[in-house]
Amino acid sequence: MSNPIRILSDHLVNQIAAGEVVERPASVIKELIENSLDAGCARLEIDVEQGGIKRLRVRDDGRGIPRDQLALALARHATSKLTELADLEAVGTLGFRGEALPSIASVSRLTLISRVRPDLESDADTTERAAGDSAWEVAVAIDGRLEGPRPAAHPPGTSVEVRDLFFNTPARRKFLRTEKTEFDHVDQVVRRLALARPDVALELRHNGRVVHQLPAADGRPESVLARLDRLLGSGFAEQSLEIDASAVDLRLHGWVRRPAFSRSQADQQFFYVNGRLIRDRLITHAIRQAFSDFLHQARHPGYVLFLDLPPRLVDVNVHPAKHEVRFRESRQVHDFIQRALQRRLAHGVLGGVVSDESTPETADRSAGAFVAAPDRPTVSPDETGDSPGRRHSQPPRTFGFGARHPTPALGVGDGRRVYQASLALQRPVADSVSASPVGNEAESSIAAESDLPPLGFALAQLNGVYLLAESAEGLILVDIHAAHERIGYERLKAAWSAGRVTSQPLLVPHSLQVDPREADRLEEQRETLARLGLVLDRLGVDRVVVREVPALLRQADMDALVRDLLADLAAQGESTRVEQAIDSVLATLACHGSVRANRRLTLDEMNALLRDMERTERIDQCNHGRPTWVRLSHADLDRLFLRGR
Ligand SMILES: Nc1ncnc2c1ncn2[C@@H]1O[C@H](COP(=O)(O)OP(=O)(O)OP(=O)(O)O)[C@@H](O)[C@H]1O
Ligand SMILES: [Mg+2]
Repeated sequence: MSNPIRILSDHLVNQIAAGEVVERPASVIKELIENSLDAGCARLEIDVEQGGIKRLRVRDDGRGIPRDQLALALARHATSKLTELADLEAVGTLGFRGEALPSIASVSRLTLISRVRPDLESDADTTERAAGDSAWEVAVAIDGRLEGPRPAAHPPGTSVEVRDLFFNTPARRKFLRTEKTEFDHVDQVVRRLALARPDVALELRHNGRVVHQLPAADGRPESVLARLDRLLGSGFAEQSLEIDASAVDLRLHGWVRRPAFSRSQADQQFFYVNGRLIRDRLITHAIRQAFSDFLHQARHPGYVLFLDLPPRLVDVNVHPAKHEVRFRESRQVHDFIQRALQRRLAHGVLGGVVSDESTPETADRSAGAFVAAPDRPTVSPDETGDSPGRRHSQPPRTFGFGARHPTPALGVGDGRRVYQASLALQRPVADSVSASPVGNEAESSIAAESDLPPLGFALAQLNGVYLLAESAEGLILVDIHAAHERIGYERLKAAWSAGRVTSQPLLVPHSLQVDPREADRLEEQRETLARLGLVLDRLGVDRVVVREVPALLRQADMDALVRDLLADLAAQGESTRVEQAIDSVLATLACHGSVRANRRLTLDEMNALLRDMERTERIDQCNHGRPTWVRLSHADLDRLFLRGR
């Protein structure tokens, strides 16, 4: 005989719901911190013992919960964040389901202590006000019944303490890992939330030891970057590009690691939709696509990115743990993200193109050399909010030099330096050196900053491989071959897409022997190759002759070039057309056209290379994703020599 159907007890319902939301201590921490953020806190203290399995506590200074609502906060389907269906279509809070606290309480020993923030007390009822400044506590007994409210001691705000997680659900408890692993998960969750909200001060302790102590960012971009560095390793800010792009209804902002600083693991990928960290295949794909011109398959981009869009365009009610969202216009979101990132990466650190905005300024300044630039782009208070989510009242229109970017101490943004087109006329080296005489550093560095092009002026060539240059910010080192390669590649791509690859006949046609199948393949692609400027004829079963080459390649080693091209074509398979492989074919061409190591360059040639670099998109990396240049700033140099300590 089957059991009769009956309605489950609330306690059991909560325990079942807990199965979806509460997987481990880290998930409890996530729910509690989200509640604190929803309560408008400015400070969070998180205390964890034994990975959170034994005890965890989240304390905030948010608005608090009035005494008469403490029990409700722990009741199922009770929330202050929604009242009707329409609200669900425009959720502006992290929570909305009204089930986190009761779920957690059903599988642990939970205590909730709260005191309403004094400035909000007028909202509370009169008895509440009479109770004045006291705090109240409720606890959940083993059978799920509430104990309290009883008076407690607590500053304005709320504390939730959770002890003995899964003490009454042994099956769940068995899935918990070691204390260390559980704490690692807690730490991950805390980092994710801390990255999203630099405006909230945060402290995390494990077994009494402080793990993170993060002050609230004060609105200066440096303070936000400092938090990024602390959470993602020092150097993150320096190795990243800041992005802020908008389209109708959509805004993408945050930071991406420059491709040269990509990761061997996908461990620094943080994507937030309206402040909520989510995992989404569509978004991962869009980002990956944007990086496809830079990154090896085996490398992973790193980023902290925020997508803001009107809540009605995204459904957050997809998964109980809220890790996923559904976009109304997913294709549009995908393409926007991909294009915005592509554009930003193309401009790289140098910017490449002078923005419209900065042109008049630049023209003025170039009139006289060595003028101080008091009006150089700096960050005014109105451009900075107290969190990345609120920065930039207006997104910058362009990303290039002169675009108004927040200026961090190192690397990111680089808006402080203004690229001056007029400086394509290179000043002799001697000038740039005398621009920073020792002892008069402060003054001259301002002058130099307004005057020197971003990559400065060449000083020397090292080992035939590297170019040394002096810029306003320090020493620039360029990998000459890598830089040439990117410049050549970008030029070929531009020429290819404009249908204007110029070829040049070889005075002496170059004939070479290949395998008959390879000769077939070249013959099949003869027309496409000709459009690339490479004119080949077949002479016999196993012989081809190169008659014309792209102008860029006139000094290349033809044997090596044709063999590499053949390898490219072979890798594409017999049936695919070269068009589909055009990027890799162009990259191969560019590689052969670029300066081989050990060729001596004159200073003029070196300066010309630097100026070319400044004008080239995606110049920060060569076609293989390696960096083309690095900077040792004055501070870096001082550090190297232990100066000023
Ligand atoms: N730290 C806090 N400060 C102030 N109020 C809180 C706090 N934590 C919870 N509350 C109140 O308790 C209610 C219930 O919290 P709970 O987390 O269970 O649900 P929720 O946040 O509304 O939705 P979700 O289940 O999606 O998290 C909240 O709606 C809020 O009003
Ligand atoms: Mg909640």
